[in-house]
Amino acid sequence: MSKKPVRVAVTGAAGQIGYALLFRIASGEMLGKDQPVILQLLEIPDEKAQNALKGVIMELEDCAFPLLAGIEAHSDPMTAFKDTDFALLVGARPRGPGMERSDLLAANAQIFTVQGKALNAVASRNVKVLVVGNPANTNAYIAMKSAPDLPAKNFTAMLRLDHNRAASQIAAKTGKAVADIEKLAVWGNHSPTMYADYRYATIGGQSVKAMINDEQWNREVFLPTVGKRGAAIIAARGLSSAASAANAAIDHMRDWALGTNGKWVTMGIPSKGEYGIPAEVMFGYPVTTENGEYKIVEGLEIDAFSQECINKTLNELLEEQNGVKHLL
Ligand code: NAD
Ligand code: LMR
Repeated sequence: MSKKPVRVAVTGAAGQIGYALLFRIASGEMLGKDQPVILQLLEIPDEKAQNALKGVIMELEDCAFPLLAGIEAHSDPMTAFKDTDFALLVGARPRGPGMERSDLLAANAQIFTVQGKALNAVASRNVKVLVVGNPANTNAYIAMKSAPDLPAKNFTAMLRLDHNRAASQIAAKTGKAVADIEKLAVWGNHSPTMYADYRYATIGGQSVKAMINDEQWNREVFLPTVGKRGAAIIAARGLSSAASAANAAIDHMRDWALGTNGKWVTMGIPSKGEYGIPAEVMFGYPVTTENGEYKIVEGLEIDAFSQECINKTLNELLEEQNGVKHLL
């Protein structure tokens, strides 16, 4: 017997991440090849955006995806989020060349207050929310604070792109397969301050730290490369990362919904005080997932350098949070 369709809302659906994301969701790469989906797509009311969305929908139709049980176009979050089981909040203003992430904060805070309230009012009470639009952690925090009737744990921010970037750099450095890397963690904010941490990582059971054995490379090459990868892609493409961001969103939601079988992944989630992070800060943590729930990997030792890195990314998040306080 076939499964009942689930509702997947995607905002910014006519944008460049949307274009790299929707076809993969519709083909079953996110929720499984046996899970029909109804896409509830949100764009701004602007005629150009709505027209572009119509074009994307025509292309989705032309794929004749067997799992695509319905497609809806919306310009109002109150209808777009109705009964939605999964919400991927992508729509936001992307960063252009020379623009700082802090410039994005004010421009985007408004969007996520409205959308948080709409989720609160009309979404499924079990909705799983992923915020991709930057600054992702703080936007997720705003959406969570704007949705007091939904469990805070349902709101997450995307750190998975940083996790995947870190894995790829480690694979290149060690000459090993990226698929064999386990126990990698990225702490904190999706920004250059994030702390990619391979101290516990293994490949085929062997310690990555011992394999690389080069603390200078860690501090002077690895961390800046992963941290500034988004900016490097903008400099090269003139546009922010899109296919890799969409891929990370698929990875995040798939792992949250379907489980990681004990494998560590990174999710930005509201802290409950773990590792000394103040409650409610939307922080990147290593997690495992099972039965649709994530669980922080606890008990890891935090050495002096790691603590310094964690404090730096935490302070940035607290500053961002402080900058939007008046809007909540
Ligand atoms: P884009 O400009 O191509 O598309 C964004 C789309 O969102 C546009 O079509 C726009 O009309 C729409 N939009 C804007 N405000 C909206 C609203 N209130 N409701 C619904 N739709 C709205 O941008 P993109 O390249 O797709 O990037 C989207 C966001 O993702 C940006 O904020 C970008 O910085 C961010 N991003 C995050 C990560 C991450 O790892 N967290 C990685 C890459 C990009
Ligand atoms: C990325 O990491 O690629 C995006 O968040 C784009 C950016 O603004 O850095």
